[in-house]
Amino acid sequence: MLTVDGLTLGYGGQPVLADVSFTLAEGEALALLGRNGAGKSTLMKALIGFIPLATGRILWCENDISRWPPFRRARAGIGYVPEERRIFADLTVAENLATGLRTPDPESPLPPWDIARILSLFPALTALLNQRGGAISGGEAQMLAISRCLLGQPRLLLLDEPAEGLAPMIVHDMIEAINLMRAAGLTLLLSEQMLPVAHACAPRALVLGGGRVQAAGAMEAVLEDRALIETWLGV
Ligand SMILES: Nc1ncnc2c1ncn2[C@@H]1O[C@H](COP(=O)(O)OP(=O)(O)OP(=O)(O)O)[C@@H](O)[C@H]1O
Ligand SMILES: [Mg+2]
Repeated sequence: MLTVDGLTLGYGGQPVLADVSFTLAEGEALALLGRNGAGKSTLMKALIGFIPLATGRILWCENDISRWPPFRRARAGIGYVPEERRIFADLTVAENLATGLRTPDPESPLPPWDIARILSLFPALTALLNQRGGAISGGEAQMLAISRCLLGQPRLLLLDEPAEGLAPMIVHDMIEAINLMRAAGLTLLLSEQMLPVAHACAPRALVLGGGRVQAAGAMEAVLEDRALIETWLGV
């Protein structure tokens, strides 16, 4: 469904990543691993179209979307939940959710998301619907950011460090929600620094380091490569 082919990109002519390639089949989950500054968020921003490519191309459902603006990629089914979550502080949780709502594409093979389905995925949001976005916890804001994105009816979800800064119990809930999204047929690309979280969410991993892809393959095989994870993940 997604083919990333030889991407080189960065900021202001300074490359951050070179020659990044991978593919994602429908319904697959892939974890992007790498230390702080490895380029995980940069790659996600390039996939949604916030950063132009220096070289390479991105194919989505057989279309070359490399030069499409972000709104067109979103409309074509790519959802993006940024690391910084970007909740509207002055809107209520319900109003925040409403900003993401899009009419489902009748051709989509995935069941549509509505508020009831969102609240069964994240029951903690039920009691918060009338609360201001600025007055909820970090974990609740992460649930809200993901929910708002799901209401846009994506087929691929780009999740940038969904468990970052969450309390251990909330991390557990987040892993469970991510696995429910996978079970519902969503394709996932998630960046993660916590290896146990990545392991619990994705059967495949891609390790970024030194501006390139250092390894890609089955999660178990990547995590068993001690030299690799010591060098590139600092574990
Ligand atoms: N807006 C920007 N302008 C210039 N350089 C940037 C910008 N954003 C990020 N960078 C640089 O690009 C590199 C990759 O950053 P990026 O945020 O993609 O890493 P990351 O893997 O997401 O790290 P983290 O785990 O800390 O979120 C870093 O060297 C960073 O300093
Ligand atoms: Mg990041």
